Amino acid sequence: MINWRIHETGFDSTRISNNGNKYLIGNGYLGIRGTLQEYEKEQYPAINLAGIYDQVGSAWREPLNAPNALYTLIEVNKKVYRLPEDTPEVHEISLDYRHGIFERSTTWKTPEGLILIQAERFASMNDKHLIGMRYTLQVEHGSKVRLVTGIDGEVWDINGPHYDLVEFTNRNEVLQAVATTHENKDRICVYEGLEADFTYEEQIREENRKYLRYLEFYAQPGISYHLIKWVGIYTSKDLEDYGEKAYQTVIRAKETGYEETRKKHMEEWEAKWNLSEVFIEGDDKAMEALNYSLYHLHSIAPRHTDHLSIAARGLSGQTYKGAVFWDTEMFMLDFFLMTEPEVAKTLLNYRIETLEGAKKKAKAYGYQGAFYAWESQEGGYDACSDYNVTDVFTGRQMRTYFKDKQIHISSAVVYGLMRYVEFTGDHQLLLEGGAEVILECAGFYYDLLVKKVNKDQYELHDVIGPDEYHERVNNNVYTNRMAKYTFDSAVYIMKLMEEAEDSGSKYHHLREQYDMETLRPKYQEASDKLYLVQPQEQTGVIEQFDGYTELEDVSIEEVHSRLLHEKEYWGGAYGVATHTKIIKQADVVTMLNLFSKDYDKDILLKNWQYYEPRTEHGSSLSACMYAMLACKCGMPELAYPFFMKSALSDITQKGKEWAGLIYIGGTHPASSGGAYMTAIEGFAGIHIIDGTLKAAPALPPGWESMRFKLVFKGERYQVTVTREDAELHKIES
Ligand code: BGC
Repeated sequence: MINWRIHETGFDSTRISNNGNKYLIGNGYLGIRGTLQEYEKEQYPAINLAGIYDQVGSAWREPLNAPNALYTLIEVNKKVYRLPEDTPEVHEISLDYRHGIFERSTTWKTPEGLILIQAERFASMNDKHLIGMRYTLQVEHGSKVRLVTGIDGEVWDINGPHYDLVEFTNRNEVLQAVATTHENKDRICVYEGLEADFTYEEQIREENRKYLRYLEFYAQPGISYHLIKWVGIYTSKDLEDYGEKAYQTVIRAKETGYEETRKKHMEEWEAKWNLSEVFIEGDDKAMEALNYSLYHLHSIAPRHTDHLSIAARGLSGQTYKGAVFWDTEMFMLDFFLMTEPEVAKTLLNYRIETLEGAKKKAKAYGYQGAFYAWESQEGGYDACSDYNVTDVFTGRQMRTYFKDKQIHISSAVVYGLMRYVEFTGDHQLLLEGGAEVILECAGFYYDLLVKKVNKDQYELHDVIGPDEYHERVNNNVYTNRMAKYTFDSAVYIMKLMEEAEDSGSKYHHLREQYDMETLRPKYQEASDKLYLVQPQEQTGVIEQFDGYTELEDVSIEEVHSRLLHEKEYWGGAYGVATHTKIIKQADVVTMLNLFSKDYDKDILLKNWQYYEPRTEHGSSLSACMYAMLACKCGMPELAYPFFMKSALSDITQKGKEWAGLIYIGGTHPASSGGAYMTAIEGFAGIHIIDGTLKAAPALPPGWESMRFKLVFKGERYQVTVTREDAELHKIES
């Protein structure tokens, strides 16, 4: 039996920020950090909203945290008891990650005796605009109690404040806050409704950007007093009558009742697990870590819309500007493709929708086609700044080239679309804009090609590969291979367009837009002649980019010892890793993973062995690529620690929290997705051959079997994998 609960006893104020991530709950529309009811902005509470952003002055544009309508604190006999200020006798927080329910329980000692508060909350999986919370109080001695609860409009922001105005009103005893954003005057509407099983005297006051109820009553010893809070949230971006909708959300929940609403929420989670739980016989720790990772992916999956993607830090706050990176397509997408393809479609629709933004970006750099945003926000706006890292020594912004040179982002979008087609067998998405995206991305790479006249080959110069520590390099093998993949995909799309003869089809419309007769041979030639460095004869090693071999070959420890400041950035113009062979994250290894069929096993292994000791794993995206490649080399035992590192990244919270002076902490959904891919595609060896689903198990030591469901081409399968064997059974959906 695995444990579906993580918990922590005792209070440690240094863990406040990490626990906010580790105990996050969410439903794709919003994420609620694992913070306590009485926390104010200094303790980073957040009800983080998906897909809505604001910019103040020249500070970074970032997603919004809604006014905190969960805010509650307790006063007993005229003294406030709260964390982190008042040391508790007993304190515990826990997360039921099977059902997305966060709980806290705290006992304080007062001069008269103990007081105990318990609270639980959930972000309804059923109604994505609803949050439910139950707050329970007990005292050991009869006491005068004052509960202060309401809406805290003084939210935590990294680059705020985002609300020029927070207006409060009381509508039939339901409190309302409407916050207006700075940049676009978007409105965030939050309603808070209350129910209690005891009588009290109430005063409602507006003070310091808070709209609070003061509930006073006399608490008898040994009796549990329950308070239920309902929170309804809509924004003006959701729909026109967002205010009414938010209000009705609260009223509906009140009518339905706490137990029933909670039950429906839990049933919805059970339905998710029914399609996605991965059973591992023989290793409970791995099964727990993996399913906890899937919990995070479920909690941030956009199911309230059909066109939205997932930010690199999910819904855990404003770090990384709430922006969408290649993380979604290359690391998270497979989980959704195999369990809930509709979500995968929603993620890809976001890229189709932001094509215009990508074309604009390409044009701004003087290129044709589509250059997707490295850090994508609404409309494909690139939130990545030219100065994305702060130098710890001077406090000055460092010129970084992630935005201009990490051109592999466009190929990730192509990869996502093609993977969708491969897994679902559904070409509709191509017709609905996907084909155009692929053609535009190919157009972009074509425009970037450098022709080496003497060698009759094309190259890509001045790029950054996945390893961000080495900027502006030539012929990064990952980038070149992905560009080739993009050309191949464009050629495939044009073949489909040609074959679709009927004049009514959407491909026909594309045929008018794109001159296929010229483009098809051009892209074919580009694919054929795009330079791909070959494995070195003696060593089998594939050089990451031109000149990599000449760099200083030192150990990670040595590079680490050269740091003058613990938060110093390793890359950039004069970073400690820049002139060495030490790389930030899997680069050649990522390429080999994707295109393992093009290489002998021996080459895969040699490169794994060469690059692993030279990889800092400074990004949480790195470990899973090493894990998967180790599986492809037939070495699951070597893969296992990397798999566990990925699966545990949000439990151990050991990931980097700083890039220069910029806080980058939060949840790591790409790492969670990577853990899933390792389990399913690595250990169970799920892959597609000639359009058919196959398994090639290579279970790590101790694993007796694996069991999971997955969807392939509209059919659901039950997969059972043992050490020797694999069975794929079609089942009813
Ligand atoms: C990594 C990128 C990644 C980004 C967001 C960076 O540290 O180098 O590859 O996309 O974080 O997760």
